[in-house]
Amino acid sequence: MTLVYNENIKIGQLLENEEAYKILTRYLPEYVNEPLFKMASNFTLNQLSALPQVNISSNVLDSLKLDLSTISFETNTAITKNEVSNSESRPLTHAGKVIIITGAGSGIGRASSIKLAARGGKVVLVDFNEKSGRETLDLVKSFGGEGFFVQADVSKSVDVKYYVQKTVDTYGKIDVLFNNAGIMQRFQRFQDISEEEFSRVIDVNLKGIFLGMKYVLQVMDRQGYGNIINTASTTAIRAEHSLASYTASKHGVAGLTKAAAIEYVRKGIRVNAICPGGVATSMTAAVPQELEESGYKPEEFPNMRIGRFAEPEELAEIVAFLASDASSYMTGSIVLADGGLTL
Ligand SMILES: NC(=O)c1ccc[n+]([C@@H]2O[C@H](COP(=O)([O-])OP(=O)(O)OC[C@H]3O[C@@H](n4cnc5c(N)ncnc54)[C@H](O)[C@@H]3O)[C@@H](O)[C@H]2O)c1
Repeated sequence: MTLVYNENIKIGQLLENEEAYKILTRYLPEYVNEPLFKMASNFTLNQLSALPQVNISSNVLDSLKLDLSTISFETNTAITKNEVSNSESRPLTHAGKVIIITGAGSGIGRASSIKLAARGGKVVLVDFNEKSGRETLDLVKSFGGEGFFVQADVSKSVDVKYYVQKTVDTYGKIDVLFNNAGIMQRFQRFQDISEEEFSRVIDVNLKGIFLGMKYVLQVMDRQGYGNIINTASTTAIRAEHSLASYTASKHGVAGLTKAAAIEYVRKGIRVNAICPGGVATSMTAAVPQELEESGYKPEEFPNMRIGRFAEPEELAEIVAFLASDASSYMTGSIVLADGGLTL
């Protein structure tokens, strides 16, 4: 399946497409053959143009995007295609495990859903975006993976109770909850954040995590076993400038993780959190533009110290480890995977 140019298409995909390469050469002759361009293969054009060492005017960027919109691209990222096509050779480390994944329609949630299903997990895909959630299910089914999709807003207890109940009704147990759905806030000064914006970020990123844990823990406590992985962020351990609500919500996720880990440590239930830095997903695609609008120019972002954003697949590998018995001695861990951002 093909699609036209959109803001999520990465430099690497552009370089692989003959027509797109010609257009890039026409508009950005000074950059196309530079090592920087290849290093930025995981970046979108917006992310590239936000790099301090890159100087692309907004006029050039707009005309470039306009020309790119006349050609077609593959729908799935190469990494997703590889993961799907390699699925048969994967060890079935999650065979028989029932795994709920929230935010399964995109980014880290989608990559994790595919990986966990490819390794034998029965995946329950939760997202409020029905279209993208069903697309993830199609990808899972494309290699014979097992699972189903539930549309739910993680910030609403009625929806959370529903996806938990549907999982138990269908599979009779819950082995793993990957509590991952989250939203970004607009970069803005603390004093300008409205109560509504603050509440929405806290509702999804913190209350959504709390509700998922609360209702799944009821099931896991009865079972006498279980494993929860929450998605926090580097903003769970240090502040990000102009992101007060998001920082507060993710600090809260780390707090909930540790609080549950200590309470259930002798009950066979492990609770850990992952802290990504910058991951190339739809969440971060809009960040350069938002930074521009906010007037705040960070020194490190969006380079990350390692020189690139992570692929969602790289986070999915950590999720798969935490979701497996290989991580059996880990609980209450706040696991950083941030390309050195917090060093
Ligand atoms: N991308 C990054 O750089 C980054 C860094 C640190 C942490 N994170 C965290 O990783 C998690 C996943 O982010 P991503 O980058 O994959 O983003 P993404 O936008 O690609 O995916 C998030 C998914 O969550 C879903 N979602 C959002 N709100 C929801 C709600 N209320 N109910 C149900 N589903 C909802 C969206 O529809 C989407 O499919 C988030 O918690 C995010 O805060 C991301």
